[in-house]
Amino acid sequence: MPRILVIEDESAISNVIKNILLDEDKDYEVDLAADGEEGLAKISENDYDLVITDIKMPKKDGVQVLVEALENNPDLPFVMISGHGDIETAVDCIKKGAFDYISKPPDLNRFLSTVRNALDKKVLITQNRELTTENKALKRKVAKQYEMVGESKALSGIREIIDKVADTDARVLITGPNGSGKELVAHQIHEKSSRNRRSLVEVNCAAIPSELIESELFGHVKGSFTGAYKDKEGKFELADGGTIFLDEVGDMSLSAQAKVLRALQEGKITRVGGDKEIKVDVRVIAATNKNLRKEIKEGRFREDLYHRLAVILIEVPGLNDRREDIENLVRHFAIQLSENSGMPVKEFSKEAIKILKEYDWTGNIRELRNVVERMLILGGNPVSKEDIENFVKK
Ligand SMILES: Nc1ncnc2c1ncn2[C@@H]1O[C@H](COP(=O)(O)OP(=O)(O)OP(=O)(O)O)[C@@H](O)[C@H]1O
Ligand SMILES: [Mg+2]
Repeated sequence: MPRILVIEDESAISNVIKNILLDEDKDYEVDLAADGEEGLAKISENDYDLVITDIKMPKKDGVQVLVEALENNPDLPFVMISGHGDIETAVDCIKKGAFDYISKPPDLNRFLSTVRNALDKKVLITQNRELTTENKALKRKVAKQYEMVGESKALSGIREIIDKVADTDARVLITGPNGSGKELVAHQIHEKSSRNRRSLVEVNCAAIPSELIESELFGHVKGSFTGAYKDKEGKFELADGGTIFLDEVGDMSLSAQAKVLRALQEGKITRVGGDKEIKVDVRVIAATNKNLRKEIKEGRFREDLYHRLAVILIEVPGLNDRREDIENLVRHFAIQLSENSGMPVKEFSKEAIKILKEYDWTGNIRELRNVVERMLILGGNPVSKEDIENFVKK
């Protein structure tokens, strides 16, 4: 129910305005104030959706009311009522942030449409503000999810490369064992690039059957194969202006490799069954846990594609090769997991950390993260050496 404040020293006029508003919509709630000071007091005490104010008034005039009110309520729409002598002032009020003005005596239709427009605008601004706040919170959450923790030499080196290459369009190939953080590195590169306003589109090449990968990457036109009921955009098109992340690229079939190679060489794609060439502006990041050199030797990976992808090579070492990061990672995951799940955060005793640092982490950081989660659920606080020995079989 919109709340409207009318500030007007001539009570005859303010009553007419009130009646017009209530005739228009019984749901309007209309308050009256007889001068600028009373108006400002009411604005600070109530949540109005619209203020309609006369310009010439005793105590404080309408311009002062406008300026002072907007300081605390920048989104509050103002409609100014101007008499004969102050059209110029009314125009000036718009520069100062008023939504609109109407002249005395107000034309009924124009007055009501101005009121409706002002109220609509207020709704839009409020929605927009809520979305922006939500968006920011979401972004913060995502950023936190992809925070890269660790002070080891290896990781500092990776951070340096990320900072250097992020805002270029250079293709990056990330290699490393399972769970070492390749995906995280890809996210960091995208987030630190100016492509971050667009999406990072992930494709898990290992999970898509080879006969579908072409359509997945490049899209298809209706009827091009059984099951193609309508035109479909591929991931390359979806990533236009952003980044595509070809994960597990070493698992792609040779025929799919040939098609990706062509897309990279020409910067253009063609939907399956289509004949139109579509230009796409996409930054490519690829990752694999395979040794691609070996795959090339054994004829499973195209060497020309390798060189296209590996302009910049980032090798993420396994956790056993950077044990000094373990302590920081344990703390980080304890906090992150407790925030995500609502479980209380726990400390880890020195002895607990010590044996975690000695374990053989074949599953790398993902495995360590799972262990921390298990300890938040099963361990004491602080988590002791015994907790770890009891619940982590090594
Ligand atoms: N340096 C790090 N700091 C914080 N979290 C990390 C770090 N490295 C990896 N992680 C976390 O560990 C988990 C595994 O990382 P990620 O998925 O990036 O590994 P991956 O190399 O892509 O693994 P896979 O080869 O199995 O796909 C994720 O939850 C990720 O957020
Ligand atoms: Mg991964």
